[in-house]
Amino acid sequence: MANTILVGAQWGDEGKGKIIDVLTEQADIVVRTQGGNNAGHTVYIGKTKYVLHLIPSGILRKTKVCVIGNGVVIDPVGLVGEIEGLAKIGVKVQENLLISETAHLVLPYHRELDEQREILKGKNKIGTTKRGIGPAYGDKAARVGLRMIDLINPVRFEEKLKIKIKENNEVLKAFGAKPLSFKKVHDAYRAAGDKLKPFVANTVVYLHKAMQKQKDILFEGAQGTFLDIDHGTYPYVTSSNTTAGGACTGSGVAPHRMDRVMGVMKAYTTRVGEGPLPSENSEIADMLHGMGREFGSTTGRARRCGWFDSVATRHATMVNGIDDLAVTNVDGLDTLEVIRVCVGYRVGGKTLDYIPNDVEVLARCEPVYVDFPGWKVSTTKARRWKDLPPRARTYLQALAELTQAKLAIVSVGPAREQTIML
Ligand code: GDP
Ligand code: IMO
Ligand code: MG
Repeated sequence: MANTILVGAQWGDEGKGKIIDVLTEQADIVVRTQGGNNAGHTVYIGKTKYVLHLIPSGILRKTKVCVIGNGVVIDPVGLVGEIEGLAKIGVKVQENLLISETAHLVLPYHRELDEQREILKGKNKIGTTKRGIGPAYGDKAARVGLRMIDLINPVRFEEKLKIKIKENNEVLKAFGAKPLSFKKVHDAYRAAGDKLKPFVANTVVYLHKAMQKQKDILFEGAQGTFLDIDHGTYPYVTSSNTTAGGACTGSGVAPHRMDRVMGVMKAYTTRVGEGPLPSENSEIADMLHGMGREFGSTTGRARRCGWFDSVATRHATMVNGIDDLAVTNVDGLDTLEVIRVCVGYRVGGKTLDYIPNDVEVLARCEPVYVDFPGWKVSTTKARRWKDLPPRARTYLQALAELTQAKLAIVSVGPAREQTIML
């Protein structure tokens, strides 16, 4: 399979977890490279549902090694909870998990600040997951963050944490929020540190040695292209590079070691949180929510829904260098009479075929649609391309052409077997 970067080509929740699980069969190592436990990647094995937040989705296949790379921000208490939660349902996390010693930590003051800043912003809030992601990456960029390597060194951790709690308690006071107890935070995080210590490693050296042994690596992107801090709908984004370049900086593997980029996209569009979504549509949202679909895996919030936006996905191909596409949730459209695809934006008397950088302009864009006739039969039992109804094939081919990448995988249900490899 060689080294593959998998990215979300929309606003997150494209079904990356499911596709990672399918592709992991052929990989040796799965690496998370950015984001934190704001991610929620769902994998079904049989009837059992697993939602992974920090641990790569490859963990569900026993013989694979999973790596949490240097670009991820880790809430140590959250990670221990995730490991223990998996153990309870029979998934062992032992030598098969490595955590980068240089990954930054998310601490309680980050979560608290995330929440306070959202309250202060009022109607302009981002709609974050409140996991402390923005403040943690903020500390990293300001060079005042704590890392895994600090957490597992009790003396250094105590010394650094004292200063951080002191500083952040002043900030929290200014927000009118309750200050944190140094002792409580210290004891809880040190306990988590002891539990995580056996997993902490120099993951850059590990990955390079693995590549020398011709191991195949799968880079599991979190969030999606339009939540990227540079290429997304700023400020309605997350705080990391969710695009393909983030896989290199977040793992220490060079760009020319990567063999291909796969983009995952839904056959329609969803977004959680605030910010522009040009093809948002209440008809498709009501239909999907009515089917019990499109509720967030991390926060349970109802996702906003819209028609497939090919202006956006074509941009995703450009900034990620997407070679291959995995289109998921095709079955979500099975009952529709007419399926719309956004092919342009109308704004200020012009038609654009690209995403404008100014979010206020993007918010004013009116989608230009092309309509496709629905296939109106269930696709959930299709296992080969030729099992799909002709109208579904036409639709999928059009999505790939408009996105300017090659259709490689079609997903017609949440289960492993509901996957068509082209
Ligand atoms: P991720 O964050 O990109 O991993 O996506 P999430 O797991 O947050 O959300 C995707 C949702 O779609 C999950 O509930 C998946 O189980 C589900 N899913 C993925 N592919 C398909 C599909 O082809 N059909 C259906 N019905 N559900 C799917
Ligand atoms: P996965 O990996 C969908 C969104 C939040 C909010 C914005 C900023 O499951 O696709 P943050 O907490 O990161 O500061 O929130 O980004 N967001 C996601 N939306 N899927 C995700 O991850 C997301 N992670 C963050 O809803 O709009
Ligand atoms: Mg998700």
